[in-house]
This record gives sequence, structure tokens and C-alpha cells, in this order.
Amino acid sequence: MNFKTVYALLKNDLKNIEKELEVTLNAKSPLLKQASLHYLQAGGKRIRPILVILASKFGTADVEKVKNVAVSLEMIHMASLIHDDVIDNAELRRGRLTVKAKWDNRVAMYVGDYILARSLELITKVQEEKAHQILSKTMVELSIGEIEQIRDKYNFDQSIFTYFRRIKRKTALLISASCELGAICANATEDVQVKLRKFGYYAGMAFQITDDILDFTATEKQLGKPAGSDLLQGNITLPVFFALKDELLAAEIRQVHENMDLNKLKRLIKAIKATDAIEKSIVVSNQYLQKALEILKGLPDNEAKDLLTTVINFIGKRNF
Ligand code: IPE
Ligand code: IPE
Ligand code: MG
Ligand code: MG
Repeated sequence: MNFKTVYALLKNDLKNIEKELEVTLNAKSPLLKQASLHYLQAGGKRIRPILVILASKFGTADVEKVKNVAVSLEMIHMASLIHDDVIDNAELRRGRLTVKAKWDNRVAMYVGDYILARSLELITKVQEEKAHQILSKTMVELSIGEIEQIRDKYNFDQSIFTYFRRIKRKTALLISASCELGAICANATEDVQVKLRKFGYYAGMAFQITDDILDFTATEKQLGKPAGSDLLQGNITLPVFFALKDELLAAEIRQVHENMDLNKLKRLIKAIKATDAIEKSIVVSNQYLQKALEILKGLPDNEAKDLLTTVINFIGKRNF
């Protein structure tokens, strides 16, 4: 089974989610409406809603409730992307101009806040207090992750532990929350909730490591967002940590700065790719994926379990 099959099998659920996203983001203000629908209509993988749906199949799910949780999580993700594009000074997202590029940073600030607020509004329909606690904690951590990324820019002496903690906060916890909330809103057992939370955490760590690898190996066309810009921006990702072990290369990497010559940067990226940095990063990503699969083994057998295995395989092999 490949990832396309997952979309095909969840087609109806996903269609309802798209509709709900559009309805929820509708705004009287033309600017808010245009800017918030801008990313939505450009698509995106919808990984988080997919995980909510699949996790909910381990309990008895109320379709409406699952939909609200899925939409809410995708909107938190969208809001964080709009803000992230301001921080990363990114021009392109999902193959389109970013909100900050098409409008400006000020618009991006409030469009992000607006989407976040809509997400909270929707999640109030879910009664379980635990769901709210998880979601708010995740958002706090995500903010810490993004602010630490700003703090640690161009710090080539940071420890690899800082990296893992950062990606846990900015990415893995939201993916983990998607799985856990799916289980919670379907009244799955406590044991299943915990397992799905752990599963999501491991999957999320691998997801961000893959994103960081793709920044080196993929093209802007494949990704629909800029490639090769993490290093330029001083975002020290896993491949860079491995490349820094090469003394000669390290000396060059340490000279990276925002206004550097772009041809020089290209050559440096090529040199990093010529080391074993990418391979080693893939190994780490695969270790997380393996852990996710092990957790999955302990869950009851059902179709959702097969689909979650497919999602894990997709994360390991994705090129978009
Ligand atoms: C991008 O997330 C940001 C990361 C956490 C790596 P996605 O890769 O899920 O982005 P979309 O939603 O598919 O555009
Ligand atoms: C993930 O980080 C972004 C968030 C968690 C908001 P990145 O900066 O790597 O994401 P992309 O590459 O811009 O999608
Ligand atoms: Mg970014
Ligand atoms: Mg990235």
C-alpha cells in the first residue's frame, strides 16, 4: 500500500474536513478571508488530520467530533506555518507566495492569530478537558521551539541535544497530539491513547528530520517551498551537525551568514551532501520510524493500523 491509497481510502472524511476548513476560516474581513484561504486552497499533505482520523479508529468515533479535532489541528499547523514563514523569511509555501510575501509581516501576524483563534473556537466543541490541556501545552511548546530556533541561529556550537529538543517542540508534539487527540475523542482506552501519543512523537521526530534532509536534497519544485535555505538562515539541522564533524568543512560552515554569496552557499551545500551527513541523518530518521512501528505492533489489529504503517513508510521515503 502506498500513501496515495491512504488518501483514497479516507477520501470522504478528508473531503468533509476540507469543507469544514473552508467554512471555519471564512471571515467577513476580505483581507482575513483571502489571506487565510490562500494556503488552504494551495493544498498541503494534511498529515495531521489523517493521523487524527486513523487514531480515532482505535475507539468508537463520533464522526463530527473527529472532524472538529482534525480541522482544529490542521488550523494550528497552518497558523504556525504562516508565522514560521515570517521567521524564516520564506517566499514560497505550498507552491504559492507566502502570506508574508504576498501581503506583509504584519498581515501574517494577524492572519496567523486569526486562524489560531478559529481553531480554538472549534475545539471548544470537544468536551474532554484533557484534549484542551494537551492542545494548549502543545502550542506553548511549539512557540518555545520556534523562539529557540531564533535564539540558536548561527550558533554552530550548540549541542545536538538542542536540535532534538527543538524539533520535538516545534513539530513532533503537534503530530503526537494529533494521534493522541484522535484516540481521546474516540474514547479509546488509556493504554491506546498513550501508545498513539508515543507513536506520533516518534513519527513526528522523523517527519522533521526528513524535512531537514529534504532542504538539502530536494528541489523547490518538489517541495513547493524554498530548498537549501535552512543553512543560509543559520538553522542548524541534523545534516549540518554531522557535517561539522569534518574539520575542514566545519571551518567553512562556521562562516555562513545571511548575506553570503549564494554560489558559495551552493558549493557548501554540495560539499555537505558529498559527506555522509545525509546518510547518517537518514539512519537517525529511520531509528525513529522503527520505534514508531514497534509501538504500532502493540496496538490492536485493524485497518487503521495498516494505514498508519503506510504513513510511516511514507515519512521515510517522501520527497515532498
Ligand atoms: C511543514 O509541515 C512544516 C514541518 C513541520 C516540517 P508539512 O510538511 O506537513 O506541510 P504541509 O502541510 O504539507 O504543507
Ligand atoms: C517547521 O520548521 C515549522 C513549524 C513547526 C511551524 P521548518 O521551518 O523546517 O518548516 P518549513 O521547512 O518552513 O516547512
Ligand atoms: Mg520554515
Ligand atoms: Mg524546513
